[in-house]
Formats: sequence, C-alpha cells, structure tokens
Amino acid sequence: MSQETNKDKIIIIDFGSQVTKLIARRIREEQVFCEIVKIDELKKKNFLKNVKGIILSGGPATVTKSKFPQIPSHVFNSKIPILGICYGLQLIAKHFKGKIKLGKNKREFGKMEITKNSNSLLTNNFFKNNKSIVWMSHQDIVYKIPKGFKKIAYTNNSPLTIIENAGKKIYGVQFHPEVTHTIYGKKIIKNFIFSICKIQKNWKINIEKNIIIENIKKTVGNKKVICALSGGVDSSVAALLIQKAIKKNLKCIMVDTGLMRKDEFKNTYKIFKNKYKMNVKIVKAANIFLKKLKDIKNPEKKRKIIGNLFIKIFEKEAKKIKKVEFLAQGTLYPDIIESRSATGSKTSKIKSHHNVGGLPKKMNLKLLEPLKDFFKDEVRILGKSIGLVNEILYKHPFPGPGLAIRIIGKINLQKIKMLQEADDIFINELNKFNLYDKIWQAYAALLPIKTVGVMGDSRTYENLCLIRAVKSEDGMSADYYSFNKEVLDEISNKIINRVKGINRVVYDITSKPPGTIELE
Ligand code: XMP
Repeated sequence: MSQETNKDKIIIIDFGSQVTKLIARRIREEQVFCEIVKIDELKKKNFLKNVKGIILSGGPATVTKSKFPQIPSHVFNSKIPILGICYGLQLIAKHFKGKIKLGKNKREFGKMEITKNSNSLLTNNFFKNNKSIVWMSHQDIVYKIPKGFKKIAYTNNSPLTIIENAGKKIYGVQFHPEVTHTIYGKKIIKNFIFSICKIQKNWKINIEKNIIIENIKKTVGNKKVICALSGGVDSSVAALLIQKAIKKNLKCIMVDTGLMRKDEFKNTYKIFKNKYKMNVKIVKAANIFLKKLKDIKNPEKKRKIIGNLFIKIFEKEAKKIKKVEFLAQGTLYPDIIESRSATGSKTSKIKSHHNVGGLPKKMNLKLLEPLKDFFKDEVRILGKSIGLVNEILYKHPFPGPGLAIRIIGKINLQKIKMLQEADDIFINELNKFNLYDKIWQAYAALLPIKTVGVMGDSRTYENLCLIRAVKSEDGMSADYYSFNKEVLDEISNKIINRVKGINRVVYDITSKPPGTIELE
C-alpha cells in the first residue's frame, strides 16, 4: 500500500493479466495517482475512500466456469465509475446478466479493426471515420448485452467490444487500451479518468520527492541505515534520497564481485565518493566469487552461488557497523506487484533473479524501501531531480549475477577480461553512433564455442562473441534492435581486431518471447 492513502486515486483491481502494470503506467503518465490492488483488499473497511475510479484488469480466468474471481457486489453499487478491460468486461457482463461464451473458433489475438455503433464519453477522439485499431487477447465472447447497457462498438469476432451503462458510469472494453498496439488506447484511459471519473492531476514526481524525504526522516529518526549500493539506477536513487534525509547516518556497502562491466565498479565508486560525498565502503571479493564459480556451468547454480555469497559478505560487513536499524533497498513498484499473486495463482517463474532485492531476511533489520511506489521511469525522473549523473540515470539494466550469466558455461578470469573488452567496445560504439539511449539494453556475451577463422595468413580457432541489443518498455517483452549494416560492421571489426581470443561475432535476432533478454 502506498504511503499516501489520503490522495484521490484510481484503483486497478488485478485479475492477473501480464499487462496490468501498463494500465497503472498509463494513468501515472497522465499525472494521476493510481494503485494496483488485489481482490482481497476490497474487503477492507473504508477501502474505497478517496477512490475516484475503478479499473478491472484482464486476466487468465473465465466467467464461463462455475468458479471465477469476482469482486464484492458493493463495488458495483458504489457509484464509483468502473471500466472493465478484457476479463473485466466479461465480469461486468456476467454481473449484469449478459451472456458470455467460449469463442468457438479460436482466440481473437493481436491487432483488430473495431467499428463504432454509438457515441460515448469513453470513446471521445478514439475513432477516426468510425474505425480504430485495437489489440485483443481473449477467447471468451460477450454475445448478449447485459441489462441496462448500450452497444458502443464491435469487431468481426466480438459483437460487443465496447459497452456502457452511462447512468451507472460502468464501461467495458474487450481489447487492451493500455498497450501501445491499440493506436488511440491512451484516449480511452484519459476519457475514463478525466471525463468520467473527474479526477484531477495529482501525481507530480518533484512534489513526491519531498514527501519521500520527509517520510524517511520520520521513519528513521536518528538511527542508522545500511544500503547495498550496486551503481544501478534503483539503488543509487534510493541511496541519494536517504542521504538527503539522514546525511551521514546512511552507510553504503559496495561489493566488488569482479563480474561487472569493464571499469564500472571503479567509476561508480568514484562518483559516489567524490561527487556525492557518500559514506561508502568497498568490499573486494572478486577472488572469492571466482573461486566459488569455478567449474559451474548451470545458470541457476551460478545465480544461487552468487546470490548466497553476496548475502554472506553483506551480512558480515553489516555486522561491523554499530547501531544499524534499517536496511535500504531500491525495490520498485513492479517488484512488489510481481512478487505477489493477484488471484492466488503464481505466474510461472522463468529464472530466479538475484539482486539486491533478495537481501537477508534474518538480519533483524527493518526494511526501508523509499521507491516502492514508483515505476522505473518515475525513478529516473526522481533521480534527475536530485542531480544523479546521466551516466547512472540512463544506464541500461544489468543483471545482479553480472557477467557470470553472460559467459555461457564455465567461467574463468581470462574469459571475464575478454568479455569485458568486447562489451566495452560494443557499448562505446553504441555511444559513438548515438544509439545507446535508443536501446533498452545491450551487451556482449561469450559462447562456449570455438570456430575457425583466418587472420593475416594464419588460421585461427577462437571464441565466439554474441552481441545483443533490444528495445523494450519494461523488460517483460522485447524486440531485437535493427542496426544499420555500417554499425554492425564497425562493431564486429573492432571486437575481432582488438580483443585477443575472439575471431567471430554474431548478432542475436531473437525477440522476447520466445527468447529472454539474457542468455542464461
Ligand atoms: P530476462 O533475461 O528474464 O531479463 O528476459 C529481464 C530483465 O531482467 C534482467 N535480469 C536480471 N536482473 N538479476 C537481476 O537483477 C538477475 O538475476 C537477472 N536476470 C535477468 C535482465 O538483464 C533484463 O533486464
């Protein structure tokens, strides 16, 4: 729950859709405060206080079964405007005695053309010549309109794609207005929150900044806080905000795992020490990490070893600092949403992600998570407003286990150095061609394959370097970046000519899904 329960807000009831988070982002982009809530929370007393609008998200369940996730009837009678999206529409239809069936042929999936039947406050400026393009992902179809509702639009497969009961201020859309593939989806969100819910803009990051700092002061008082500083944007912004609140009572620990990008650890340390005068302690642990990772091939084992070792080192260091009461983490809002279940079912875990977010639970320290209400782009705005350098602010995401999961197979110092060089060349070229900021994440990896080549007059038999660059909004899905040939030529030539031990470079053209962003 947010620290700001007295603010007017829109709530999104989460039925487990993969894109629920995007609804919240779209609303926050309009500078309106909103929260994603679980169905259970609706039972709490006074829960709807300050709620100006309710969005029912999509989800994997179906109302055609005897059991399905529902919301209490009092929510439908609360007179608060409601917008149902996908499963949300079906739930509205079911509640108001419409009819829903399982689509016979197949799922309606992807971009569809939608046609207007009637005007609605919800669809102001949404149709052009009575048509629009929307993104669908559903199987169930509402085929009989619920009582008191009006048909607003249809597609070939869904006769009731948008419906409304303007008197009750209840609206339903079968498609996903929150995804960018729905061309004018933002209009639906804006019309709902401003024209129908009549909420005012009330979410300005710069104002939130002062509230966060005040809250930290109040919570921590004159106690001490420790923070594992990785140099990523989340822990950096969290640490700077805490420093602003409690000054020298913040102690940061930077663990050098030896698995960072070339010179990155050194540079980050310098920034925090010299520019921000932070109280940072370095723990040099590269040798221990390398020793523990010796002969380990399995990616999950690598993650576990790194995660556990990190925790052990951090715990040991933390114990040396006296009178610490709080452990600070750069946990973000998506981390909180993702780590809990919307409807009781856990979404499947693809990889175990070890980072600072998985720090010790047994340390008897209270958690301090100043960014837990914010999305990554909002954290960047916060970071900018407190003077965080661009170098950290716009840094691509980097996995906690670092280069260990970018060296496929066994790891050794020679491979780490080789990869650091290749990766450094790649990133420098992206900067040179002004591409770094257009790409969400880019890196080089080393594959456990040797191939034949020819350099000068000699045959070579050396390592294969893979480069990956993706565009993404939040890392949940991604497309590979389309480079010009000229850029790829330059990257490949430079890596092969300058990095001893690499004689071939390949570009990864896999999207996510079906691939993941990292290789391991
Ligand atoms: P995948 O590979 O799952 O990655 O598509 C999605 C995003 O998460 C990052 N990632 C990690 N971050 N610890 C982290 O802190 C990890 O173990 C880890 N594994 C992947 C990845 O770099 C991408 O941004």
